[in-house]
Amino acid sequence: MSISRREFIKDAAAVSAFISLSGIPLSGTGRKKTVSVPPGDRIRVGVAGVNSRGRAIAGTLSKMPRCQVACICDCDLDALEKCRGWVEESGAPRPDGEQDYRKMLDRNDIDAVVIAMPDHWHATAAIMALHAGKHVYLEKPASYCPEENAMLLEAERKYGKVVQVGMQRRSYPVLRQAVQELREGVIGEVRHATSWYATNRTSIGVGRPVPVPSRLNWDFWQGPAPRGPLYKDNIVHYNWHWRWHWGTGEALNNGTHFVDLVRWMMNLNEYPSEVASVGGRYHFRNDDWETPDTQVLSFQFGEKASFTWEGRSCDPKRIDGASTGVTLYGENGMSLFLNGKNEYVIFDDKDQIIRKVESGMTFRDGDRFNPSEELDALHFANWFDAIENGTPVNDPLCEACMSTQYTQYGNIAQRLGRSLKIDPASGAILNDSESRQYWSRTYDPVWTPKQYL
Ligand SMILES: NC(=O)c1ccc[n+]([C@@H]2O[C@H](COP(=O)([O-])OP(=O)(O)OC[C@H]3O[C@@H](n4cnc5c(N)ncnc54)[C@H](O)[C@@H]3O)[C@@H](O)[C@H]2O)c1
Repeated sequence: MSISRREFIKDAAAVSAFISLSGIPLSGTGRKKTVSVPPGDRIRVGVAGVNSRGRAIAGTLSKMPRCQVACICDCDLDALEKCRGWVEESGAPRPDGEQDYRKMLDRNDIDAVVIAMPDHWHATAAIMALHAGKHVYLEKPASYCPEENAMLLEAERKYGKVVQVGMQRRSYPVLRQAVQELREGVIGEVRHATSWYATNRTSIGVGRPVPVPSRLNWDFWQGPAPRGPLYKDNIVHYNWHWRWHWGTGEALNNGTHFVDLVRWMMNLNEYPSEVASVGGRYHFRNDDWETPDTQVLSFQFGEKASFTWEGRSCDPKRIDGASTGVTLYGENGMSLFLNGKNEYVIFDDKDQIIRKVESGMTFRDGDRFNPSEELDALHFANWFDAIENGTPVNDPLCEACMSTQYTQYGNIAQRLGRSLKIDPASGAILNDSESRQYWSRTYDPVWTPKQYL
């Protein structure tokens, strides 16, 4: 069958107008918050953790007239200075710099903070910021382990500030339109989906214990993680992602984005009844990488629904021409495919395109540092709307914590070598006392998040 109907939406403004006129349903609605920054005043933002993602965010924010990047924080002085210069290069005033996160939080002239530190820091840094009266933009994954999700939600309730989480696709206009179409039954009832991430990461080698470079405050970098592992020359920056002591593997690194998209698209608002994981570290086996580089997670929701996420960190073979994606399977052979960009395609039962929806606001393919700046700016603007007007954020903490917890179950199943049975209402893992070791973690006593609750 040839393409019977094609809809190319080229103009992002037109897409946004369509979205707001049609009043898209949200899969989770953040509560209205107390307004603390009057509309018209610039929101003063501090950005913490700026080697890569945080620097990209600081650059994007520095071009947005609604805010001022007032302070940059990084425990690595090189990353700190590079980012201060980066903001200045974009034409904004050079922000102040702090190496100690607590000092940034102590400042009364900062309204809101962006947290783009490593995963072991996320929950603690967010709880500290809420305790200090700041609004929070928290990078994904929301947390390192399931217990931290509950702690985060408690802090949000207690301190009443706005929290937006960095699963930014929830603000992409065309993906919001996809959700609306799915709710209206464009492919019928969706009971199964597949999702994936495939790339070609190289070995991280075997680290050598070396003196901590003078530019880096290693104590600040370790923060809430218990002391133990020696400093080695292949942890900072980025490679911590693949070490369980600090990182959470590809499942929480990229899996959370796609698990969250599936949850949102399928309107899954309960915990799964069963989660399984297969995979392992199959490539470059003699290096320090501990988390799986190949992993398939499956999520079962009783008789009602199921979905999978496949992660291949060192094997870039695409699926349906896309290195990242989600396919949702509906009724009568219909499906909806999205590749993680601001577009989607609907297929019929002969695998022929019925309709493709895209916009001029797409990824800058090949830009690994900040590929979706224009789209991400919509997510920050939505955060600012919430801070100024009390409107709901598109990625509320409760949604982000649930998506994060799904993938945490996956890693727990992988590490235990067996599938988990879960109570769909409470999220508790059933009849598996061994799993408790991964439910929570111990903390360095100086940085324990519980002192801020
Ligand atoms: N939403 C997205 O699309 C997206 C994309 C990339 C990364 N991320 C997330 O952003 C986070 C950072 O990722 P990255 O690739 O930039 O990692 P990275 O290792 O390159 O950078 C982390 C930075 O945090 C700094 N840091 C560590 N402890 C600190 C402390 N106590 N105070 C201040 N700074 C501290 C480090 O020195 C480093 O500069 C991760 O959690 C990742 O999952 C999200």
